[in-house]
Amino acid sequence: MEEEEYYEYYGEDAYEEEYEPTAWHYESVEEVPKNIRKYFHQRYHLFERYDEGVLLTDDAWFGVTPEYVARTIATHVGNAAGSEKTTIVDAFVGVGGNAIAFALSGRWERVFAIEKDPETLKCAKHNAEIYGVGNKIWWIEGDCLDIVPKRFPDMKETVVFASPPWGGVSYRHQPVFDLETMQPYGLKELYRTLSRCSKELVLYLPRSSDLNQVARYAADGTKTLVAHYCLRGASKALCVYYGDFGSVP
Ligand SMILES: C[S@@+](CC[C@H](N)C(=O)[O-])C[C@H]1O[C@@H](n2cnc3c(N)ncnc32)[C@H](O)[C@@H]1O
Repeated sequence: MEEEEYYEYYGEDAYEEEYEPTAWHYESVEEVPKNIRKYFHQRYHLFERYDEGVLLTDDAWFGVTPEYVARTIATHVGNAAGSEKTTIVDAFVGVGGNAIAFALSGRWERVFAIEKDPETLKCAKHNAEIYGVGNKIWWIEGDCLDIVPKRFPDMKETVVFASPPWGGVSYRHQPVFDLETMQPYGLKELYRTLSRCSKELVLYLPRSSDLNQVARYAADGTKTLVAHYCLRGASKALCVYYGDFGSVP
């Protein structure tokens, strides 16, 4: 990330202290670091039940999937996946936006949620309790690129959903975002590792993602669906549906 972007992402005081993720519930805008205020103003889009004590780390504000988008994705994945698919693995659970929506949909017998940062995982578990689905999700702390191929190898009944870090906001400055430069994991590494569990893999990626790169991993002679998810007239992100999915409404 360029220095200017680093400041845009983490704030002007970023170099003064090492960032230690801390689960936190901001009550009022005065408490919120300047670089997060824009997101704080959108808090009810992120979590409609924010006021019930939703926890986020400061980093998580940038990457959480807004609740309406997460619920729409959960409906689409649930409807488009075949009936043999009974398990979903949220490989990068963050503070729980998507995993909570998958659990709330009632579509899945098992929802697994993997997160490598313990404090972020603490937020996800707490937020899932607020939404009444804490005990409907199996929580795993660790590196999904290690855990998914080892613990969930070649699982025919499983769909993998992944909303990886995008490496800050640099995608906003590129008309077409190069998915191999995405930090810390490029598309090739994500696809190759996560598709060892299931060829049904849904990736949540920047809205400007390079679709030619996406197409490289589509099976020959098949269609790979790409859906934009929009909020207030603008695309927030897109999902790529690799593998055998029916139509997404
Ligand atoms: C964009 S956020 C996910 C946001 C999530 N969909 C939500 O709505 O809260 C990406 C998350 O992946 C986590 N992460 C990064 N690398 C990871 C890895 N190798 N294994 C598991 N989690 C990882 C980060 O700590 C971060 O919380």
